[in-house]
Amino acid sequence: MRDGKISETLLAWYDTHARDLPWRVSPARRSAGQHPDPYRVWLSEIMLQQTTVAAVRDYFHRFTALWPDVQALAAAPDGDVMGEWAGLGYYARARNLLKCARIIASEFGGQFPTNHDALLALPGIGPYTAAAISAIAFDLPETVMDGNVERVMARLFDVHSPLPTAKPELKAHAAALTPQNRPGDYAQAVMDLGATICTPRAPSCNRCPLHSRCRARQTGTAAELPKKTPK
Ligand code: ADE
Repeated sequence: MRDGKISETLLAWYDTHARDLPWRVSPARRSAGQHPDPYRVWLSEIMLQQTTVAAVRDYFHRFTALWPDVQALAAAPDGDVMGEWAGLGYYARARNLLKCARIIASEFGGQFPTNHDALLALPGIGPYTAAAISAIAFDLPETVMDGNVERVMARLFDVHSPLPTAKPELKAHAAALTPQNRPGDYAQAVMDLGATICTPRAPSCNRCPLHSRCRARQTGTAAELPKKTPK
C-alpha cells in the first residue's frame, strides 16, 4: 500500500534542506516545476558511482564547462575525456560514458530516451542509473535504490534480515513509498536523508523528519541496520 504521508513529509523536508549540488536546479526553479537536464543528471550519476559528492563536484564543473551537452561530449577526442577523468578512478566508467554519449548523439538525435528499457540498453547505464535518470530528469515514478535508500528503508521498517538477502524486501518498501507527486525530488530527498541524517554510524535521529515514523528508532536498533551477511 502507498503511504502518502512519508513521501509528503520527506518532500517538505527536501524543500528546506536539499543539498545545493551543481547538477540540481535551484529551489526557485524547482518550485516552478523545472527538472535538471538529463545530460547533467546522467553525467553526475555516473561520476557518483563509487565516488563521493565532495570528490565529484569539481570534475562535474570541469566536464560541463568543456562539454555543455551530450553532442559536445560525443565529439570530444577520447584522450581529452580520459585526461579530464584522471583521478576519479574506475576508468571503465569514462569509456562507457563516451560510448553512451556517441550513441545518444548518433542514434537518438542528442536526446536521452525516456523509456526505461532504452536507457538500460545504453553502455554504462544499469538499473540504478536508469531509474535515477527517469526519476530526476523526467519526473517518472521510478524507485531509485542505492546504499543510502537501502539504509533508510531498513531503519524505517526495522528490517533485520541482512544484505544482500534483504534487497528485494527493501526495494518493495521503497517502491511502496515512491509517490506519483514529484518522484524526482522524492528520490533525491531519500538520498539526501541517507547522506546527511540517516548516516551509517551515529544517525542524527533527533533531526530526522521521519523520526516519529521510524520503527528502528522506536526499537533502538537504527544504528545497527542494515545488517550485513558476514564475508
Ligand atoms: N548520490 C548519488 N546521486 C545522488 C543524487 N542525485 N542526490 C543525492 N545523492 C546522490
